[in-house]
Amino acid sequence: MQVKIRGQRKSFRTVRFDAATNSVVLIEQRLLPHRFELVSTRNHRETAAAIRNMVVRGAGAIGATAAYGLAQGARAFRGTHRGLFKRHLSKVFGDLMNARPTAVDPLNAMHGVQAAMAFGKTVAQKQSLALAAAEEFANENTEHCRNIGQHGLRLIPNGCTVLTHCNAGWLAFVDIGSATAPLYAAQAAGRKFLVLCDETRPRCQGASLTAWELAQQDVPHNIIVDNAAGHLMQRGKIDLVIVGADRVLGRTGEVANKIGTYTKAVLAHRHRIPFYVAIPLSTLDWKLSSGLEIPIEERDEAEVLGAWGVASGRGRTYVRTANPTSSALNPAFDVTPAELITGIITPVGIIRPEDLWRRRAELGWVGDP
Ligand code: MRU
Repeated sequence: MQVKIRGQRKSFRTVRFDAATNSVVLIEQRLLPHRFELVSTRNHRETAAAIRNMVVRGAGAIGATAAYGLAQGARAFRGTHRGLFKRHLSKVFGDLMNARPTAVDPLNAMHGVQAAMAFGKTVAQKQSLALAAAEEFANENTEHCRNIGQHGLRLIPNGCTVLTHCNAGWLAFVDIGSATAPLYAAQAAGRKFLVLCDETRPRCQGASLTAWELAQQDVPHNIIVDNAAGHLMQRGKIDLVIVGADRVLGRTGEVANKIGTYTKAVLAHRHRIPFYVAIPLSTLDWKLSSGLEIPIEERDEAEVLGAWGVASGRGRTYVRTANPTSSALNPAFDVTPAELITGIITPVGIIRPEDLWRRRAELGWVGDP
């Protein structure tokens, strides 16, 4: 998407690969919305750390980053011994897979890279197939978001108000975003609408990232505190909800997404407001058969006990807001049951969550692993 830098608009992707230096180039998301900076990771361990520390975050973006990280690790191998190469790759795979547990996109993306490498006979062939497959994942991710926009466009009539939670915009993908794709499509179609961004404590991806993205594209929006949604729904001030997801179970239609999503779905159901989840196909998990099996990331309690900001003239600063002797619990995601979800906006159309399994062939299911 385009970013305004010193009055000029320039296009960026959230993640890309620099083959000449074998590095992954990322937008440093922890500095947004205050500073726009790119960072490069020099090896797969730095790439895994960038995922773990949330330099890059969001299911699709960490999927593409993991795919590039696997290619980066493969290309760093020196030698022609296929056995040693295989051992090296499984270490790289593990490091990237363990960086964050909830989103399934990194796993799906790296399985795609592995499958492509299997067609290579020599180490050199496998290395070049790995990078081609990572590039393909990134391009496909963008294409999927574009198609989500076309299918979701009909949900955004003139004059409507849309609530979104966390950031499922282009920063959470390679480009465009999933929950934001129908919004950008509606804007391109000349429709007028308002977006409400949940601030999304504790890391405030809604207030910092989604609001920044929408401001960059001149989309009218307001930030609301997470607890305001019920009140606004009760007063008829929200027409629909669109969120992203970190993992959608193809067998049950359950959706893991940023903590607080479940609460919004319950509220939307109570007020008969449509609740949609927008995802590329890499967010589908065909293996698990219960939302209780989804690994829910527990993050550092410091996120809950304080907040980060950028003070003028200084870098990123942390301020403790909570009582100094208290500790905190910090589950980063929750699971919304299928019956609370009106539809899943996918690149192939809007599908009821309970129909995902029946339509698995067109949704990219390739058989049981
Ligand atoms: O912890 P994050 O910022 O990586 O969480 C991911 C998210 O931004 C959300 O859960 C989002 O709604 C889905 S990711 C496309």
